[in-house]
Amino acid sequence: MRKPILAANWKMQKTIPEAIEFAEAFLPLVADAEVDVVIAPPFTLLDRLGAKLSGSGIALAAQNVNPNESGAFTGEIAPGMLVDLGCQYAIVGHSERRALYGETDALVSQKAASLLNHDIRPIVCVGETLEQRDAGSALSVVAEQLRGSLAEVASDRASEVVIAYEPVWAIGTGRTATPQIAQEVHESIRSVLGDLFGAVGGEIRIQYGGSVKPETVYDLMNQPDIDGALVGGASLDPEAFSRIVHFEREGSQ
Ligand code: 13P
Repeated sequence: MRKPILAANWKMQKTIPEAIEFAEAFLPLVADAEVDVVIAPPFTLLDRLGAKLSGSGIALAAQNVNPNESGAFTGEIAPGMLVDLGCQYAIVGHSERRALYGETDALVSQKAASLLNHDIRPIVCVGETLEQRDAGSALSVVAEQLRGSLAEVASDRASEVVIAYEPVWAIGTGRTATPQIAQEVHESIRSVLGDLFGAVGGEIRIQYGGSVKPETVYDLMNQPDIDGALVGGASLDPEAFSRIVHFEREGSQ
C-alpha cells in the first residue's frame, strides 16, 4: 500500500510573517489528515516554519540541495544543513531548475544519492515540454530523465524516493493534464521503476504536479498509479491546500 503524499512547493514565495500566518490557518484544517503532508518553502523559511510545524506530523522539505558535503560553493546549501533544520524531504530536478539553472539528470542523480546518505527523501521531478509531447516523445523523454536522475540511487534505498511527474506545459498554466494523460505517464514511470529496482519499484510513490487544484485532485488521485500531488500555486492558500490534502472529500461533493 502506497501512502498518499500531498506536497506544497512554494517556490520563491512568502515572507516569514506570511508563512507563520499560513501555518496558523492550515494546521487546524489538516489535524486529522491520514496522508503524508509535506511543505517545501524557500530556504529562508525552513527554520521558523519548521518550528511552527513541529509535532504536527507535517514534514518539512527543501526545494533544492547541493550534493557536496561542504566547501567553497558560494550560495549553496549542503544536505547536512537541511538535516540541521529538520528537513525530511527535498525536491530535486524541478523543471524550473532544469530549464533556468541548467540542471542535468547527472546532477539530479548526485543530489538524490547525497540526500539519501543523509536520510532525507528526495522528490525527483521529471516531465516533458509541450514540444516533446506534441512530437509524441513524452514517454521516452520521461523514461530517459528518470533513468538518468536515478542512476546513483541504490536499490536498497529506492523505496524512500518520491517521483514527481510534472509536465512542463501544465505548470502554472492552469492546464492540468487529464487524469488519463497523467495515468498513462505514471504507468510508464512505474514500469521503468520496475526495470531499475525490481519489486521495490512498486513501493515508490509517484506524484502528479501541474496546476493541481481542489477541483481536480480527486480524479487524479483516483488513478491507480497516482499516489500524490506536488502543488505550486494552490498550495499558497491554506484553505485550498487543505482541500487538496483532504482530496477524498472533494470526490464526495
Ligand atoms: P502549479 O501547481 O502552480 O502549476 O506548480 C506545479 C509545480 O511546479 C509544483 O512543483
